[in-house]
Amino acid sequence: MGRAALDLVAEYFDTLAARAVLRPTTSAALRRRLDEPAPSAGEPFADLLGTVREVVEEFSRHNGHPRFFGYVSSPGMPVAAMGSMIAAAFNINVTCWRSGPAATEMELLCIRWIKEMLGYPADGAGLLVSGGSMANFAGIAAARSAKAPGNVVRDGLGGARMRLYASEEAHFSIRKAAAMLGIGAANLRSVKTDADLRMDLADLDHLVRQDRDAGHLPFCVVASAGTAGTGAVDPIGEIADLARAHNLWLHVDGAYGGFAAMAPSARAFFRRIGEADSVALDPHKWLYLPVGCGCVLYRDAAAARAAFSENAEYTRVVGLEGDEAFAFWDYGPELSRPFRALDLWLLLKSVGTEAIGQAIEDNIACAKYFADLVSATDDFEMLAPVDLSIFCFRYRPRGFAGDLDALNERVMLEVQRGGSSYLSNARVRGAFALRGCVLNYRTTKRDMEILLEDVRSAVGQALSSAK
Ligand SMILES: Cc1ncc(COP(=O)(O)O)c(C=O)c1O
Repeated sequence: MGRAALDLVAEYFDTLAARAVLRPTTSAALRRRLDEPAPSAGEPFADLLGTVREVVEEFSRHNGHPRFFGYVSSPGMPVAAMGSMIAAAFNINVTCWRSGPAATEMELLCIRWIKEMLGYPADGAGLLVSGGSMANFAGIAAARSAKAPGNVVRDGLGGARMRLYASEEAHFSIRKAAAMLGIGAANLRSVKTDADLRMDLADLDHLVRQDRDAGHLPFCVVASAGTAGTGAVDPIGEIADLARAHNLWLHVDGAYGGFAAMAPSARAFFRRIGEADSVALDPHKWLYLPVGCGCVLYRDAAAARAAFSENAEYTRVVGLEGDEAFAFWDYGPELSRPFRALDLWLLLKSVGTEAIGQAIEDNIACAKYFADLVSATDDFEMLAPVDLSIFCFRYRPRGFAGDLDALNERVMLEVQRGGSSYLSNARVRGAFALRGCVLNYRTTKRDMEILLEDVRSAVGQALSSAK
């Protein structure tokens, strides 16, 4: 089984760049291929692999394609594909040291390396979680229990009117965290952004003072270190100063951009990230790992334990003390956890942090190169600065009097239909933007040139279909 599956995987990686990013299909067409009653008897593995090849491989969007620029999607890596296979085979449930001694040590080591890579204090705690949404949830949960007037874990909010702050460009997982933690989505205050779409500090200061005067309890500010829309990096250091002045927990959402701290040209954005009380990161974004690996760091391990620590007879650690009594469930929401650290360890050990920093630097250079290409035309325009590797632009021919948003939406759909490149969308100050994110070590500057050619031919199709 393994040999047959590995042949398929190897062939997939070998042919990836030559494939269409996405082959158009429909839900009905796929159901016709897959739907059947629950199988009452088994079938040979080779036949099942045939379906994986003909249906799953053919009708998936290939996020590892060098010109897949949609959303914030990592390409995945061959070495991590091997790691995931081994992790599934060993099936270690990394709840605590007792359940997986080596896996626990490997995860703690990876967390230590991540802190070093970011310049985060060595005595902070952290763990791997399912993704950035869960990392944001965990950081804000720790903030809530640290700043609530009473014991919020035991007693609930008890009428405390807690408020948190994030820029209007922040990711929706912050609002979801506020909703799930009983703070209420309406108590997430949306801070204005400046001309570069970064958090406006004067507005943050103003909202916090206004809320405090009105009897609310401002408790946490979330700085986005790379927004999902345009990649804008909020001024972390200045926000840290304000957070300190107002006794707010500072959480940095670095799910998209955090690892750009390893790229020389972006390092300055992250200089003071070590002052954050918690940080959300996504190795399954800019460390190129396949989906399923987020990370949360806490500056104060005790604050994380205060939010998450639990004891029950069925998990009580018997006969172990000190490091061997360590439990991940004291630091995050999950009990059963896959062996996420194996992929991460394999990646870091097999290529090293220098190569990763260089790959991130190259991705940033590709995005900036594309911005230069766009700026050199007279019928396209950039809609936002390129802080990291996200670029937002649109087609805007001189003298066009029609609906630019509708036209660019059609252009995006034509690009996606074409299969050579893939862009997604954003809204920048109300305008529809063609949006791309370079997050793939396979992408080159030549791919950025091809992207612009693909967008040009999509413009032709969009204009002719509008006639
Ligand atoms: C800035 C930011 N925060 C949080 C998230 C959520 O991360 P995940 O999809 O891993 O839950 C994303 C996802 O793109 C993001 O870009």
